[in-house]
Formats: sequence, structure tokens, C-alpha cells
Amino acid sequence: MAIRSYRSITPTFDSSVYIDESAVLVGDISLGEQSSIWPLVAARGDVNVIRIGKRTNVQDGSVLHVTRKSKQNPMGFPLIVGDDVTVGHKCMLHGCQLGNRILVGMGAIIMDGAVVQDDVFIGAGSLIAPNKVLESGYLYVGNPAVKKRLLNDAEMAFLKQSAINYVELSREYLGQ
Ligand SMILES: CC(C)(COP(=O)(O)OP(=O)(O)OC[C@H]1O[C@@H](n2cnc3c(N)ncnc32)[C@H](O)[C@@H]1OP(=O)(O)O)[C@@H](O)C(=O)NCCC(=O)NCCS
Repeated sequence: MAIRSYRSITPTFDSSVYIDESAVLVGDISLGEQSSIWPLVAARGDVNVIRIGKRTNVQDGSVLHVTRKSKQNPMGFPLIVGDDVTVGHKCMLHGCQLGNRILVGMGAIIMDGAVVQDDVFIGAGSLIAPNKVLESGYLYVGNPAVKKRLLNDAEMAFLKQSAINYVELSREYLGQ
């Protein structure tokens, strides 16, 4: 497993977190309880921080990075992800902020300064442009992504269920 320090700061997480041994996590990263990181994820908390909440899963091949602080942008762009978020295969999350109960479809790209509110479904392959705000309760799709329609009850329920499924799967991998 490649859990690496950068400037003496090492990723932090407890024993309920599953991290595949092929994933690489560097620097100032924290992961909440029962979150999971799947094969070949690269997460680099070097020039800013990465914060991931509880029961969130980041699936295979996804890349997580941040933007440094500058005169023009004193906070830079950290990456903040809430609870019960599913990040599908091969996504790019860069310096953005995600709330709770979100599904990021496979191959989606979310750019600096974008904010995804709670309970949002992002279709596979979508591009969320810098500083966009995605409103709670909606499906967004496309490149650039547009608000497509309100989520139905089944989709709303699936946002949470997907996170539960991944908690269960990760417990199996942990042998718990
Ligand atoms: C978004 C998604 C749920 C669509 O569900 P759906 O019930 O088929 O959606 P709808 O039938 O309401 O489609 C709405 C419109 O968006 C389009 N659309 C659907 N998914 C799209 C996508 N990923 N990108 C662009 N357009 C998409 C549909 O073609 C349709 O277009 P139209 O209005 O011109 O006919 C599904 O396509 C998707 O992307 N799922 C992501 C799955 C995933 O990545 N999971 C994580 C890994 S486990």
C-alpha cells in the first residue's frame, strides 16, 4: 500500500476504512469512518488538503487533486467530499466541494471551485466546469453538464443505498 507523507503530513484514517493496496495516497488527506478507496486510485494532498467524509467510496482509477493557494486565490482549491458519496470508476475530482449523498458517474470530471450540493446524481462522462453550483435534488449530465431533471424517489434512495453497498463490500474485503 502506498500511503505517503508529504512535508511530514501523512494521510489519516481509522481501521474501519478500506484502502486497496494498489491505491496511492499522499500528504494531507483525511478519510472518515467506513469510507473506501478502490484499486488504482491516486489522491494527492500536497499543495492543498483533501477531506473525505464517512461511508464515501472512491472507485477504481479515480484521480483526486487540489490547487495551491495564491495571491489571487488565498484559499486555493481544497478537495472536500461529504458523507455517503459514491465516486464511480475513473473520475477526476479536482479542487471541488461535494456535499452528502451524491453519485458521481463513471468518468465524470469535476473542476476547481465547483460545488455539488447534497443529493445530486451526476451522469457518467459529465464535465462539471469550474465554479459551477449543482443544485440539490437534480440529475446533471453532459459536457458541459446541464441540469436535466429532478431525481425521482428511487434515485434519491439509491444515492444512500449505493454508499451502504460499498460499506458492506469494503467490510468483506477487510474480513470484518
Ligand atoms: C444518468 C443515468 C442514471 C441516466 O438514467 P436514465 O434514467 O436513463 O435517464 P433519462 O432516461 O431520464 O435520461 C435523461 C436524458 O439524459 C441523457 N443521458 C443519460 N445519461 C447520460 C449521460 N451519462 N451523459 C449524457 N446524457 C445522458 C439521456 O439520453 C436522456 O436524453 P434525452 O432527454 O435527450 O432523451 C445514467 O445514464 C448514468 O449515467 N448512470 C451513471 C452510472 C454510474 O456511473 N455509476 C457509478 C459506477 S458504479
